[in-house]
Amino acid sequence: MTRKKVAILISGRGSNMSVLIEAAKAPDYPAEIVGVLSNRAAAPGLEIAQQHGIATASLAQSKFLSRDMFEDTMTQILESWEVDIVCLAGFMRILGEDFVNRWQGRMINIHPSLLPDYRGLDTHARVLADGGKVHGCTVHFVTPGLDEGPAILQVQVPVLPGDTPETLSARILIEEHRIYPEALRLLASGDLSADKVLN
Ligand code: GRF
Repeated sequence: MTRKKVAILISGRGSNMSVLIEAAKAPDYPAEIVGVLSNRAAAPGLEIAQQHGIATASLAQSKFLSRDMFEDTMTQILESWEVDIVCLAGFMRILGEDFVNRWQGRMINIHPSLLPDYRGLDTHARVLADGGKVHGCTVHFVTPGLDEGPAILQVQVPVLPGDTPETLSARILIEEHRIYPEALRLLASGDLSADKVLN
């Protein structure tokens, strides 16, 4: 079995990154994590990745004259790692069309809502403010529109009486950690054809 080489892009604590790293330790998992790239040098996830012996890089967009230059440098790093698949895991930057198109069908994201509902930020607070009864999370292909790409896996989580954004997000995070490794497994093994989903 040739394992697909995966880079994970993060900005923060990296709990989804951590479960992907753990999943990829199984000998029959079809992907290996070859690098973790953060747009924040202080992202706690970077240190976790290093503890696992994984290559890391951090790049602040503010140090570049343009988003294109920032993303070109990201591309160079990903190419130096010979990456096949990119996983966004709490990466808090909107990516430009050229970068997204370069990775079309090979870049996935985890989003804490039942897409296409609640794209963007603060999903838990927005669901509660709307009196929603059900919430959840989605792993989806990344396309140029924010949180718009086709879903790969999605899980519903009931909103409970007394839920706060924190309690709701903690319950949803448990499901995120279940479906993200599974979605990456589907993509990396070829069981899921990106061509069929995206065309
Ligand atoms: C997760 O809730 C994920 O769905 C969202 O950002 C958060 C990242 O958390 N995209 P972590 O860094 O993986 O712990």
